[in-house]
Formats: sequence, structure tokens, C-alpha cells
Amino acid sequence: MSAQHGELAGKVAIVTGAGLPGNIGSETAEVLAREGASVVLTDVAGDALVETTRALADKGYRVASCVTDISSEDAVKALIAFTVETFGRLDVIDNNAARTSADQDLLVCDMDVDWWDKTFAVNTRGTMLMCKHAIPVMIHGGGGSIINISSGTVVGGNFFSTAYASSKGAVETLTRYIATQYGPQKIRCNAVSPGPVLTSSLKQGLPDDLREIFRRHTLTGDYAKPSEIGEVVSFLASDRASFVTGQVLQVDGGIAAHLSTSVEIAELMAGGVVPQ
Ligand SMILES: NC(=O)c1ccc[n+]([C@@H]2O[C@H](COP(=O)([O-])OP(=O)(O)OC[C@H]3O[C@@H](n4cnc5c(N)ncnc54)[C@H](O)[C@@H]3O)[C@@H](O)[C@H]2O)c1
Repeated sequence: MSAQHGELAGKVAIVTGAGLPGNIGSETAEVLAREGASVVLTDVAGDALVETTRALADKGYRVASCVTDISSEDAVKALIAFTVETFGRLDVIDNNAARTSADQDLLVCDMDVDWWDKTFAVNTRGTMLMCKHAIPVMIHGGGGSIINISSGTVVGGNFFSTAYASSKGAVETLTRYIATQYGPQKIRCNAVSPGPVLTSSLKQGLPDDLREIFRRHTLTGDYAKPSEIGEVVSFLASDRASFVTGQVLQVDGGIAAHLSTSVEIAELMAGGVVPQ
């Protein structure tokens, strides 16, 4: 166990969906641990989770792992109990786990109801269950910070990710309800809405032409690194964000900050056309 330094020293955090190396959850767990938090990494599957947690422990961070299916209320209760048994308290939860695959999640008229329900069971019910069982423990410890990971897919319509985006829209609403209901007991609740993030899975799975569309629409000119989401989560977890609650923070390289037409208008202007 190493000495804890940094702005999260003394705090205990859970990061869900943190099993895969190079993805947002594991990179966020590392940022929180770097800032001094004791971190419980969780995921639905065990092998990668154990490896990821061991890699952080080898760097001297105070971490533990617990396999959890967040759509199960009993499993979530067990995770919260494990965290308190292991590290003594709970201050921060980063609700990062999600069902993210888009292959069967296309147009509404083709929607498979089972797919829709399973997506909501993890992304929305799972996030709610984590909050339901973490909040009383956090209140007991004097307060806490909840960060729900949403998605830039919420801000406008598209041709894929219909169930996924709808489930994340509900997470943003839940965020404001929790902030309202438990703010007086010193629970802050915010959402982070990432734009395109180049995770290890996206590096392998995203077709080049689709990858290029996202790049063209990102004002910073490229995808985020997973740790860039972790840095914002770490800020919201910290006391520096003590007056921030009920917010959805777009961490998207500006993708939602401009009109969709502006990309084509910029191309016209590059060709010499001046808009009147
Ligand atoms: N990568 C992006 O571009 C991007 C963009 C916007 C939002 N996000 C959001 O960021 C978060 C992390 O995404 P990622 O890209 O690293 O994806 P990812 O698929 O690597 O991470 C999701 C993790 O959640 C886990 N998970 C799935 N079902 C679970 C369950 N029932 N219980 C516990 N864990 C479960 C998966 O095993 C996986 O490890 C997700 O909430 C995602 O919606 C990602």
C-alpha cells in the first residue's frame, strides 16, 4: 500500500466497467488512483479486470477489483459492501459501465425489444442501482460525488445507437433528479458526456470511413484519449468542483458546439464561396 498524495487523497472511489485496458473506465481508474483515491475497479467479466487491477497495483496504487453485473441489484449491494469492507468508506462513484455495441441497435422500426430492454437494464437501471445503494453510504460518510457517463449520442438524432442513446438520455435526467433529491445531504451528481474517444476497442472495430466522419466534425481535430475523460471525472470527483452539481458536461472536442451545416459551409468557404 503506497502513501496517498493528490487532490483525491483519502477518498474511496468505485469505477464500473473498468476491466478493459485502454478503455475509458480503466484509464479513469488510473487517473483517480494517481490523484490519491483508493479505487475499486469493477466489470461484468473477470479475467481482464484482474489483469487491469494488478497492473495498477504494480504501479503502487491502492486498488481492488470486484466482478459485478450492475444490472443486478444483489450484485450492486455486494459491490458497495465489498468497497466499505476493503477501504472503509465510499466517496465517489464513476458510473462508466455500459452496453455499447451498435450492431443490433439501428432503426426504431427494426428494433429488437430484447436488445432495447437489455440496453436499458445495464445503462439506465444499472446506473440507478449504483446510485441507490451508494448514496446512503456516502451520506453516512458526510457526502460524495457521483459521475454518470452519458454520451454525445444524446444531443441529436442519428441512424444507429437508438436504444443506447435513449438509455443515456435517461441517465442525464436521472443525474438531475439525484442532484435535486440528495444535494442537501452533500451528494453532488453530474454527468460527463463524451464525444468520440479512441479506446482500444474502437481502434480495432471502427471502419475507417466512419472514423473519418467523427474526426471531421470534432473541432479539436481528433478523437479524445480515454484519459482525457478520466481527467474530467477526477475534477468532478474532487473538492475543486464543490459547487458543481446537476450538470451534463460535454467532453466532446466541440462536436455539439457547432451546427452540423458548419462543416460543409467551411468546405464551401475553402473553395472560395463567401456566405452572405
Ligand atoms: N468510446 C467512446 O467514444 C464513447 C463515447 C461516448 C460515451 N462513451 C461511454 O463511455 C463509457 C465507457 O465506454 P468505452 O468506450 O470505454 O466502452 P467499453 O465497452 O470498453 O466499456 C464498457 C464496459 O462496461 C462493461 N459492462 C457491460 N455490461 C456491464 C454490466 N452489466 N455490468 C458491469 N459492467 C458492464 C463492459 O464489460 C466494458 O468493460 C460507456 O458508458 C460509454 O457509453 C464512450
